[in-house]
Amino acid sequence: QGDADEGIDYIFKIVMIGDSGVGKSQLLNRFVKNEFHMKSKPTIGVEFLTRTVVMDHKLVKAQIWDTAGQESRPVDASGKSWPFNSSKGLAVDVFLLGCIVSAVALCCNRIGYQAITTAYYRGATGALLAYDITNQQSFDHVEKWLDELRIHADKNILVMLVGNKSDLNSVRAVPIEAARDFARQEGLFFVETSALDSTNVESAFLGLLSQVY
Ligand code: GTP
Ligand code: MG
Repeated sequence: QGDADEGIDYIFKIVMIGDSGVGKSQLLNRFVKNEFHMKSKPTIGVEFLTRTVVMDHKLVKAQIWDTAGQESRPVDASGKSWPFNSSKGLAVDVFLLGCIVSAVALCCNRIGYQAITTAYYRGATGALLAYDITNQQSFDHVEKWLDELRIHADKNILVMLVGNKSDLNSVRAVPIEAARDFARQEGLFFVETSALDSTNVESAFLGLLSQVY
């Protein structure tokens, strides 16, 4: 009984970021519940899980936030795929109406996205930025995620770059040296993990927490 935070010395907020499908939710699942789901569905909205660990004889509670890696995708989709996909025979007025609808949808989407993004990063002291070692594009997008942090997060936020799916080494696309060099340049911590076989999952989260602490 009693307060759930009784005896807790510190509470730290950590955010999971990175492209969709890189394994953010499964890394979190592995760290908090020691579970893994092969058929993980894309995250919808924002969720968080907590795990309390002992550090230096202190009880540290990690509150880890997780969201979809593609929040901005609806904006891209409405901006790019339409009207280019429309058939040639469309009348001009339908085209214009479509443009207006797209523009309105785009604005609403943008405003909603901004509000959620701001709340997501507020108060976060650490970020776990994940990419998939078998997916070069997810690594190329790391810079985009760093930009997002620069815009929305606290300037002192500590970042752990995580190359996930190390169990798929045979189909690796991103060399570990490339990622390590990049992390060094950008002043990020770095580790390769596998949510599937648990490799380095504890190190990734605990390493980040110990730096925050
Ligand atoms: P969004 O919620 O859409 O942003 O994706 P996510 O980054 O949360 O990805 P998720 O954790 O849902 O994992 C996507 C897929 O990758 C799922 O099929 C997982 O089973 C798989 N996956 C996650 N981690 C690993 C891993 O370490 N190894 C392998 N082989 N597959 C993994
Ligand atoms: Mg997810």
